[in-house]
Amino acid sequence: MHRPELGKKTVLFLAQKKTKGEKIAAVTAFDFPTARIAAEAGVDIILVGDSLGMALQGRENTLKVTMDDMVYHTSLVARARPPALVVSDMPYGSFHGSIEKSVENACRFIKEGGAEAVKLEGGRKRFQVIEALLNAEIPVMAHLGLTPQSVLRMGGFKVQGKLREKAREILADAQALEKLGVFAIVLESIPQELAKKISANLNIPTIGIGAGPFCDGQVLVFSDLVGLTSMNLPKFVRQYADTLAIWQKALREYVRDVQSAAFPDDHESYHLHKDIDEFLK
Ligand code: KIV
Repeated sequence: MHRPELGKKTVLFLAQKKTKGEKIAAVTAFDFPTARIAAEAGVDIILVGDSLGMALQGRENTLKVTMDDMVYHTSLVARARPPALVVSDMPYGSFHGSIEKSVENACRFIKEGGAEAVKLEGGRKRFQVIEALLNAEIPVMAHLGLTPQSVLRMGGFKVQGKLREKAREILADAQALEKLGVFAIVLESIPQELAKKISANLNIPTIGIGAGPFCDGQVLVFSDLVGLTSMNLPKFVRQYADTLAIWQKALREYVRDVQSAAFPDDHESYHLHKDIDEFLK
C-alpha cells in the first residue's frame, strides 16, 4: 500500500507555498548530520549541490565532481530521512552527452541515492534533456543566470543578465522551462529587478541565490551560512554564525590538552574490574 511519509514536503507542497505567498527556505547540504540539522530547522528543500566540489573537496570550481560523488552524498542526506524535498544536482558532464545516458544518470539519483528530484543547470540548450527526464517521471529543478558549470565559457563567476539582451534571454528561458514542466527554477547571481520580473511572471517557484529578495525562496550553502568556509564569500551570502572560530578554538584546546597530558583524565578513562586488581601487582 502506498503510504506517503507524514509531513513530507513534495513538489506540490512547494507549488502551494508559492500560491499562498509563503517563502521557501532551501539549503545545500552534503551529509547526514547537516541534513538533519537543516531538516530540524524547518528547511523545505535540501539540495545536494555540486558546490561540494568547492565546499568539501577543496576544488576551484565544480567541474571535476563526478556522478559517483553526487550519488554518494545524496545517499548520506537521504539517510537523514528529512521532511524536506531532497534534490540532487546533476554534475558537469552527466547530462551533456546522449539523452539515454542523461536519463540513466538521473535515475541513479532516485534509485541509488534516494533523491526525490534532480537539478540541472542551463536554459534552452538543455530543453531536450529536461523533457526526457520529465518523461521518465523525474521532477526537475532548473537553474538559470550564473551557472557555475559554465565558468570556463563565461570567463569566471560573473553576475548574469545585467544588460537587456541577456536579461530577455533569461526571462524567455524561465518561461519556456515552466511550460516544459520543471517544478522550480534556481536563479543565481542576477539583478534583483530581473528576478522580480521572472518570479511575478511564473506560477512555479523561483529559488534565489544572489538574486535579491523578490524570489519565492532562497538557497544558501550550509557551510557558508554557518560560517565554516574559510575562503572569501560572495556578497550575497549572509553568515548566521562563526562556526569556524568555534571549531578552531576547540581544536587548539584539544592539542594543548594532549600536549600537556591534561586529556584524558580519570573520568575519561576505563578501569579494570575491581576483582582483578591483582593483575597489576
Ligand atoms: O551546487 C549548489 O549548491 C547550487 C546552489 C548554490 C544553487 O547549485
